[in-house]
Amino acid sequence: MDLSVWGTGRFVHRYSNRQLRPVEVMILIRHREDLSGRVLELGCGAGRIAGYLVEVAHELHGLDLSPRMVAECRRRYPGGHFQTGDMRHLSRFETGSFDAVLAGFNVLDVLGDEERRLTLREIGRVLRDYALVSDGAHGFMLVHYFITAAAQLRQLAEEGFEPVSCLDLDGRALASGESAPEVDELHYVARRA
Ligand SMILES: C[S@@+](CC[C@H](N)C(=O)[O-])C[C@H]1O[C@@H](n2cnc3c(N)ncnc32)[C@H](O)[C@@H]1O
Repeated sequence: MDLSVWGTGRFVHRYSNRQLRPVEVMILIRHREDLSGRVLELGCGAGRIAGYLVEVAHELHGLDLSPRMVAECRRRYPGGHFQTGDMRHLSRFETGSFDAVLAGFNVLDVLGDEERRLTLREIGRVLRDYALVSDGAHGFMLVHYFITAAAQLRQLAEEGFEPVSCLDLDGRALASGESAPEVDELHYVARRA
């Protein structure tokens, strides 16, 4: 698809207002906690939504094809990190480095099928595969780290450990590639590689 129209920056004034649509307000309210960490907004335009995200997120990153849109975001919301770039290529962002990714106002709909799927895959890659959750233990006084077995094994390897086994609460060893999402507390045995 031809995206060059966005590069012209002709529409800065159209996306620099602070008017949210009802659905956007709902999402910001309902998912305020999900949006409170490291957040990436794709196609952030001139900051219509970013202006609110920057208040909620611990660290807001915005990416847009148009340098003029990015300049407007930087001028209006200096607390955010805004860069010119194409959302189809997110290699500048590390795997698992964001808690949430937003693409509001039809941003993904300017892509064709193949590029849309590619971008969704990239969004999946940059999202964290763990969550910090207040899961009710000890009267909701504790926050626990939840992670998939595959991601935990990868993380151990990245930190210099060689996984020996992964056991469920009955002591049964998980088979290679088994995920066991129903088990709350998997036990990992690992040695330093
Ligand atoms: C409809 S505007 C929405 C702007 C903003 N999200 C909002 O809700 O006000 C779409 C934005 O996506 C940007 N955009 C379009 N294609 C893009 C791409 N491939 N990568 C990054 N940004 C893109 C455009 O420059 C434009 O700022």
